[in-house]
Amino acid sequence: MQPIRKATVIGAGVMGAGIAAQIANAGIPVRLLDIVPEGAANRNALAEGAIAKMLKTEPAPFMTPRAAKLVTAGNIEDHLSEIADSDWIIEAVVERLDVKQALYKKIDAVRRPGAAVSSNTSTIPLAMLTRGMPESFNRDFLITHFFNPPRYMRLLEIVTGPSTEAALTETVAAFADRMLGKSIVRCKDSPGFIANRLGVYWLQVGVVEAFDLGLTVEEADAIVGKPMGIPKTGVFGLIDLVGLDLMPHINASLTKSLPETDAFQAANRDLPLLQKMIAGGYTGRKGKGGFYRLNRANGGKVKESIDLQSGDYRAERRADLPELGAAGKNLRALLSSPGKAGRYAWRVLGKTLAYAASLVPEAADDIDAIDEAMRLGYNWQWGPFELIDKLGSNWLIERLAHEGLAVPALLHAAKDRTFYRIDNGGRQYLGTDGAYHDLKRPDGVLMLEDVKRVAKPVLKNASAAVWDIGDGVLCFEFTSKSNSLDPEIMALLGKTIPLVQQKHKALVIYNEGSNFSVGANLGLAIFAANIAAWSEIEKLVAAGQQTYKALKYAPFPVVSAPAGMALGGGCEILLHSDAVQAHAESYIGLVECGVGLVPGWGGCKEMLTRWHTSGLLPHGPMPAPSKVFETVSTASVSKSAADAKELLFLRATDGITMNRYRLLADAKALALKLAVDYVPPRPVELKLPGVAGKLAFTMAAEGFHQRGLATDYDMVVSAGLADVLSGGEADLLDAVNEEQLLNLERAAFMRLMKTPGTLARIEHMLVTGKPLRN
Ligand code: NAI
Repeated sequence: MQPIRKATVIGAGVMGAGIAAQIANAGIPVRLLDIVPEGAANRNALAEGAIAKMLKTEPAPFMTPRAAKLVTAGNIEDHLSEIADSDWIIEAVVERLDVKQALYKKIDAVRRPGAAVSSNTSTIPLAMLTRGMPESFNRDFLITHFFNPPRYMRLLEIVTGPSTEAALTETVAAFADRMLGKSIVRCKDSPGFIANRLGVYWLQVGVVEAFDLGLTVEEADAIVGKPMGIPKTGVFGLIDLVGLDLMPHINASLTKSLPETDAFQAANRDLPLLQKMIAGGYTGRKGKGGFYRLNRANGGKVKESIDLQSGDYRAERRADLPELGAAGKNLRALLSSPGKAGRYAWRVLGKTLAYAASLVPEAADDIDAIDEAMRLGYNWQWGPFELIDKLGSNWLIERLAHEGLAVPALLHAAKDRTFYRIDNGGRQYLGTDGAYHDLKRPDGVLMLEDVKRVAKPVLKNASAAVWDIGDGVLCFEFTSKSNSLDPEIMALLGKTIPLVQQKHKALVIYNEGSNFSVGANLGLAIFAANIAAWSEIEKLVAAGQQTYKALKYAPFPVVSAPAGMALGGGCEILLHSDAVQAHAESYIGLVECGVGLVPGWGGCKEMLTRWHTSGLLPHGPMPAPSKVFETVSTASVSKSAADAKELLFLRATDGITMNRYRLLADAKALALKLAVDYVPPRPVELKLPGVAGKLAFTMAAEGFHQRGLATDYDMVVSAGLADVLSGGEADLLDAVNEEQLLNLERAAFMRLMKTPGTLARIEHMLVTGKPLRN
């Protein structure tokens, strides 16, 4: 099959539109088609409406508004013949076999032979979809099951039939992996595939047992949530999110297609409250509310939840379950606890884990497919087999047997051993043949997690570690809480620079936390401020400035590779790197003003330099500082890596990796490329507007203040920022060098740090996680 250069998505509903957006995010042109609504003046109304709606949706399906331009709206009556130029055609229409099959016939008549056709069906087996279709179609047909929302959910389940061509499947899978950023899980052609088969069973058991044990929804979600490494939405919060009305549909489909003996049949029970809620429009977050709701009656905002026994809303009640505290992180202790929390935890998780074990090899070839599907499709921190290893397979076998529950064969096979083990530093899983097999990463994937399993750090302290990732490249990893930046990190960076210089070719700054870095450790700053240790604070600011500067001018390339948030000092480290290889989902920003400060580790300096040398602005001393003022005073954070390029937090030449698993390998490759004939950057001097510029910023800020867009204290902070960006008291004609700019940053930072308004902002951020608008 030829590479995928153009795609078509048919069905512009929730899924089709989202899939088209993600294809556009990858830079690939995509056609989005839907039916012609009856009597419509605009025959493309559905697809056009879907694109327009996505531009307003949060979280945004498009990584930048520009990506939306790659999606062409159309309809299946006028534009179907145009799909002949598509290499991949994705069907995402209503979940009805007759509708899908009728569409396949039309697609087959116009598609280029050899173009891949896939269905996004969540419940219809491939064998049924392809029945009656010509062999030439079936060779090119597969199921690609995306999860909602397609941009953010990393799982893609792929199902192939006996006729599907292996090379075509490989092409589609490779595209979905590298271009769409998905982790591919191969599933058997069995009902619900993997994630929904197990996930819906888990939800169903979670709901039924909560009714039976008389738990509140808050209690249920507190138990079957965080303690199990499951998102805090638990069971009821998740159903609210996906929509209560979806449950009966999926349940009915699974009931119909699964054998009578399947454990799902016993778990599935009609729940009158659920039916009543759906009938009344209480379908969850998209409807009037669900198990939880925000009651806005009488102008208020009251968090409420449903009383499962009476079916009425009441004020939300925090779960008070001492059993959870007593068990701590010990999952087995929780499941063994005799109270209602322990009983609920056992009934839900025990059954779910047993069900998971029964799905190999029926739904999946191996346990890793099931674990990956639950980690990425349901955001579980650990897959079911990893959870069994935590509990101990012997313990689970005995407990199931003790309660008269069936023990699946695979679980028996794991008696006296674990599902995963480490062998020679590599991770292995227990196969259905009873032997252990290596867990293989896809080609070109390098994970620090794997490096760390076999190696010792080259350097290490309490907040960071340095790893040898081969070929002359070292990797600097933050290990502090939330990867916040502190003196330990600066100290270790200071030691790393000469080490790379002496013995290696390049440095990559990367970690596998959910956020690259949330910025400087504010807790330390507030502690020092409370004892008026001003000189200590100033020393830390100066140390950060000098460390980042040393990174920038080091005689080897530095490549930073962020994923998730890179804020404040975390953003400044990117700004001082020779290049950045960013995960597509990177949220980058200089947010210091939000806590009453200005970027003090060279962030103002680097942003001024970038805008000055960007060639994007008119000449003169004012345009660059104005741009930086606009971005920094509003604490703007990019909504994606592509968006960060528009804000100049990333350079146009910086790399973007769609698949999180591929980030480190891409960053390393970039670092090695830069290492050939590497020349460090040259210092620049900037012409800044001086006092006149400061006046202009002050007037702009006053305008915002008058319109109620800036608070009183915002005025103080933006004056500090204006001091730096205008170049201070320098005369308009004098050029300002880097050291002078760093001095200005430090002075403004320290002035603000000593101001009560800033301390109040920092304290508020530390306590609530939200900015204070004083
Ligand atoms: P939806 O109801 O939001 O959208 C379906 C779209 O298909 C509508 O815009 C409809 O006008 C269009 N359509 C109907 N017949 C058509 C035809 N003959 N030709 C072209 N367009 C046609 O549905 P949703 O949720 O987007 O689901 C689409 C598919 O994705 C279904 O197979 C569903 O099972 C599957 N799916 C849904 C997920 C979800 O969370 N909603 C998750 C994963 C898969």
